[in-house]
Amino acid sequence: MREQPLLELKELKTHFHTERGRITAVDGISFTVEEGEILGVVGESGCGKSVTSQSILRLLDEKRSADYEGEILFKGTDLLKLSDGKMRRIRGNDIAMIFQDPLSSLNPVYTIGYQIAESILLHQNVSKKVAYEQAVEMLKLTGIPSPEKRVKEYPHQLSGGMQQRVMIAIALSCQPQLLIADEPTTALDVTIQAQILELIIDLNHKQRMGVIFITHDLGVVAELCTRVVVMYLGQIVEEASVDILFERPLHPYTKGLMKSIPQLDGDRTQKMHVIKGMVPSLNNVPSGCRFAPRCAFADDLCREKMPDLELHPNGQKVRCWHAAKIALEEEGQYV
Ligand SMILES: Nc1ncnc2c1ncn2[C@@H]1O[C@H](COP(=O)(O)OP(=O)(O)OP(=O)(O)O)[C@@H](O)[C@H]1O
Ligand SMILES: [Mg+2]
Repeated sequence: MREQPLLELKELKTHFHTERGRITAVDGISFTVEEGEILGVVGESGCGKSVTSQSILRLLDEKRSADYEGEILFKGTDLLKLSDGKMRRIRGNDIAMIFQDPLSSLNPVYTIGYQIAESILLHQNVSKKVAYEQAVEMLKLTGIPSPEKRVKEYPHQLSGGMQQRVMIAIALSCQPQLLIADEPTTALDVTIQAQILELIIDLNHKQRMGVIFITHDLGVVAELCTRVVVMYLGQIVEEASVDILFERPLHPYTKGLMKSIPQLDGDRTQKMHVIKGMVPSLNNVPSGCRFAPRCAFADDLCREKMPDLELHPNGQKVRCWHAAKIALEEEGQYV
């Protein structure tokens, strides 16, 4: 029998109630993360990557401004059915998240040493002194210089990159089973970024921690992830193992993203924006295939009818009416 995945999303939908009506930012997403696996999630700005990850931790329904449909199974338990109290125990304990914006999750009135030690004390049966020493060690691991001094400082005394590393130290110090990393290294310089990725890979190996890694940087995906989900306007348009996705992307959108990979000597923090046209607004979702207005392959069928996410024989899933044709053309190129 197949082992239960660590996380399984089944047809997740996240709706927001806005002044202009109800919008569906995540529209029927299904994927799994196995224990010890690093799943990459990519897509242009606004396609629903952060909303998906915040939905997994149920961070959006707190002010009743959002509601969910579908299932979020964490080791078989549907998180959408848990009480608020049980959900709180899962957050930062079994599932930790590193946010895009570090200041939003650091407490301004406590020193960073206190905040890391507190997280260690919550999850490990150690003395305060040991927790403090571990906090210094975690800071060292994230590449913060003079960690013994830094632990005594407050969040506002640190630069954005330092704050980001403190947040990573807090998230990792509780040894979560699942880490959701939402563009954790975008603001950091390349050397620090490499250090942080090493740290995540290390925990992934040693503790079989599952990781959802959201990024604009396809170079990082190639280095870090085993499988990738490509999102467009709230939906998955392609999913494949890293090798297959880079060798033979089938969705025209994925192909566009691949073309927009920044050059090694270029600015690696730049966002993907090379594909012609803009991501449409959620208030005005195109009928048929959502990518059709920007797609060179689009015909009447694409504009009228939404394709399903179809499984191809090599395990690749693609939401495109012309995927088979594109695959044939690609094969032609290799003959
Ligand atoms: N609280 C909210 N209320 C209404 N709409 C929202 C809310 N949060 C996000 N959205 C909308 O949901 C869509 C998806 O946003 P999301 O932040 O998930 O994008 P993203 O893929 O993470 O983009 P980026 O790469 O820029 O971080 C966007 O259209 C955004 O405007
Ligand atoms: Mg985001």
